[in-house]
Amino acid sequence: MSEYLLKAVDISKAFVGVQALDAVSLDIRPGEIHCLAGENGCGKSTLIKIISGVYQQDAGYIEFNGKRFTRITPLEAIAMGIQVIYQDFSIFPNLTVMENLAFNTELAAGRRLVNKRRMRTVAEEALSKINFDIELDRLVGSLSVAEKQMVAICRALMFDAKLIIMDEPTTALTRKEVRALFEIILKLKEQGIAILFVSHKLNEVFEISERFTIFRSGKHIVSGNTSELDDRKFSYYMTGREFDAEPFRPRYEGGECVLEVENLAIEGAFEDVSFRLCRGEILGITGLLDSGRSELALALFGLRRSTGGRILVKGKEIAMGSPRDAIEAGIGYVPEDRLSEGLFLPRSIADNIVISEIDRLTGALSVLDFRRYRQEVEDWVRALSIATPDPENACSTLSGGNQQRVVLAKWLACKPDVLVLNGPTVGVDIGSKHDIHRILQRLANEGMAVIIISDDLPEVLQNCSHLLIMKDGRIVARPDPGSTDENTVLSHML
Ligand SMILES: Nc1ncnc2c1ncn2[C@@H]1O[C@H](COP(=O)(O)OP(=O)(O)OP(=O)(O)O)[C@@H](O)[C@H]1O
Ligand SMILES: [Mg+2]
Repeated sequence: MSEYLLKAVDISKAFVGVQALDAVSLDIRPGEIHCLAGENGCGKSTLIKIISGVYQQDAGYIEFNGKRFTRITPLEAIAMGIQVIYQDFSIFPNLTVMENLAFNTELAAGRRLVNKRRMRTVAEEALSKINFDIELDRLVGSLSVAEKQMVAICRALMFDAKLIIMDEPTTALTRKEVRALFEIILKLKEQGIAILFVSHKLNEVFEISERFTIFRSGKHIVSGNTSELDDRKFSYYMTGREFDAEPFRPRYEGGECVLEVENLAIEGAFEDVSFRLCRGEILGITGLLDSGRSELALALFGLRRSTGGRILVKGKEIAMGSPRDAIEAGIGYVPEDRLSEGLFLPRSIADNIVISEIDRLTGALSVLDFRRYRQEVEDWVRALSIATPDPENACSTLSGGNQQRVVLAKWLACKPDVLVLNGPTVGVDIGSKHDIHRILQRLANEGMAVIIISDDLPEVLQNCSHLLIMKDGRIVARPDPGSTDENTVLSHML
């Protein structure tokens, strides 16, 4: 028996115009928690799809359990015990938990008639393996993201998985849910199951993995023991650059006050929220998931109707609960769930960037000024380093992190006076995160007023000129980001 459960050797894969993987290798030992990290678009998901038989590689081979393959079919992958938990979990919302769990097993066994009682026993066994307690008859559509993920993990266990691959499993989870997931990962390890955990979050890699592999631009950079890794090495391997985490100092002097929020409230979500924001300032709003921070973001952009208070932009009161009014007054909003709220995936990258701007570019004759349009798109693609050979390609061909940059570009292209960003760097890698922060700081220094809503404390502390901490729907503290620290902020939040 080989020392390794999985060996992917010299795997290459090209898509039209992109070398997604260039002779990369990865090996995983039985029962090991291995983290695959790398910036957006470096080829992590592509490798996973090759290992699980979704894509076929152009070159290289895979060894699993000592057996060598030049290509793996999806059925072979499943039969050997390779299971992937994708970001969307690939589960069916209008079926029950039970039906979701049963579905693939029956499919794999080639059976058409479902033996309900037997399935129930198998499903219950899988649930108990990870101590997950859930009503089997509940509709999956009614579950939280974390619960759906658990169902997907259970389903993987029902196939007698030897390797479970999780593609960025923590992106949509709260801190508490991440804790719960990590406990389950450790439990799976105890049962001898190897985990390939895809993440670009340093703290997660440190906490959960024993070994790591880092890719950059489709190339293998390094593999090793996580215990030998530190912050500086990690970001250097990921990006090939060295960063200085200089905190933001507003440079825009005496900026006009553009946004006044007075006693804003949404019944049951938050109350008595007041603050002022001037050009050149970056306001951070932080708090736990249930603190009311997200509802506040939605209210500022009119996506939820506030039940009290008022919002003034440049001295003029705006109508509540109307995003159109908010946009007209000069407020832009980058939503938290960018992939589902922000983009038309089948449309081109270019269309997505200029979509909200069409009005401005159409001019009086209602004809799109194509030269300006191309120029704008090119400028934004360059400014945000969106990795694409051609902006006319569909948005769906971009990697997750690059799709997020398109949403950002779309809003920046409108040049709002006030830009509200909910979780601006959730799911993006450190290199892009640094770039996005630099862009926001530049925009502020050029006179935009920016609001960052985030529970990423280093993010708000390093980028904001002001900070509001929310708890149970109220502002509980307004510390100066320059002279407070993470622990102090956390103690207000909890
Ligand atoms: N089906 C496809 N057609 C064309 N190009 C693709 C396709 N899938 C991926 N790519 C390209 O291959 C490269 C690698 O993408 P991949 O999705 O593997 O990145 P990733 O490391 O998972 O990134 P992220 O962290 O953003 O999810 C990217 O440049 C991407 O645009
Ligand atoms: Mg990916």
